[in-house]
Amino acid sequence: MNKNLLISNRGSVIPASPIRKLIPCADEAKSRGIEVYHLNIGQPDIQTPSYFWRAIQGYGEKVLAYGPSNGLLALRKAIATYYNSFGAKNITAANVSITTGGSEAILFVYIILADKGDEFLIPDPCYANYISLAAIAEVKLVPILTKVEGGFHLPEEEEIEKLITPKTKGIIICTPNNPTGTIYSKDEMMRVARIAEKHNIYLISDEVYREFLFDGRKHTSVFNLPGADEYKIVIDSVSKRFSACGARIGCVVSTNEDVLKGVMRCSMSRLCPPTIEQVGMVELYGRMDDIIPEMMKEYELRRNVVYEEIQKIPGAFATLPEGAFYMTCRLPVEDAEKFTQWMLTDFSVDGKTTMIAPGEGFYVTPGRGRNEARIAYVLKEKELRDAMRILREGIKKYQEENK
Ligand SMILES: Cc1ncc(COP(=O)(O)O)c(C=O)c1O
Repeated sequence: MNKNLLISNRGSVIPASPIRKLIPCADEAKSRGIEVYHLNIGQPDIQTPSYFWRAIQGYGEKVLAYGPSNGLLALRKAIATYYNSFGAKNITAANVSITTGGSEAILFVYIILADKGDEFLIPDPCYANYISLAAIAEVKLVPILTKVEGGFHLPEEEEIEKLITPKTKGIIICTPNNPTGTIYSKDEMMRVARIAEKHNIYLISDEVYREFLFDGRKHTSVFNLPGADEYKIVIDSVSKRFSACGARIGCVVSTNEDVLKGVMRCSMSRLCPPTIEQVGMVELYGRMDDIIPEMMKEYELRRNVVYEEIQKIPGAFATLPEGAFYMTCRLPVEDAEKFTQWMLTDFSVDGKTTMIAPGEGFYVTPGRGRNEARIAYVLKEKELRDAMRILREGIKKYQEENK
């Protein structure tokens, strides 16, 4: 290869998504006529609410023009009203900056807050794109150790504080959590807030699953915590809340003028987020009471199913997920990636197989999570039970073959 055509070091170290990397194997299985149950990806099967479709069908403009870089005012106002409704009293439209998905919000926040080599603490495991986007932004993630046995809850304050260095720019927290389903308690949120305030670093709170709460649990947003708001940044998205992953609408919410100006400069460089989808979202933010409770009832039922089924697998272990729609479990296999691949290439029951997301790719710490997997319960009860049964039978056969 001509040396000039080599891609950059940065380009070569961006890790592939653990959720998507085995998709070629799934496609190959499908080409053989196998039906694949996708428990690997957080793509809900729930219909995007009809209000959205109606709103975009009524879009009356003749030109699909660029919109404002920080998003349509109507949507920023609707989101601010929604934030006020859960107690974020200081938030107005001026504090909301619309991004092309929560993913872009994460990237912008990294770029604005950190220079190359600067650090962010993050509970490990974490949403895998925090890792890949950190590689793109050339920032370093420092893992806060959490374990399946403890339901992935946070360690004590001193344990977290020990990880702070002069390069630490912030703590990233995601509640309810992807990939673990953990909801951090008010006490845990206060813990990280105290550390952030004490050390003058940012507290970045990913709250894209804010409504996904089970067993009557309450959500604690960083904006519900006492103390100054200027070090708090929220990353948000419509993808899961409105079952609208393809809309590509997210936002950064902050009261910090410098952060907002930085986000605006990044936003200008990519011109604007999708226009029509923003129009549809204005409608959905005004209809949350109609949309959310029913959706959450369905997810809680699925959560119960997946937890019940995982317990039928000898040697598997998980705690009851508290929120979001994921469970990270330990499986009785040495290498969950090899097992996942084998499920797609070598195993099926009645022409069907199940795809899960191997755990290792969700960890910042090398080598952790090899015998873990994330299961996204994004199918209806009947399919979910069938998918979990196939997983159980697959594990049994795999163990027999690998004795
Ligand atoms: C925790 C978390 N943050 C952010 C995102 C990104 O969402 P979006 O689809 O808005 O880019 C996801 C998507 O799965 C997520 O799980």
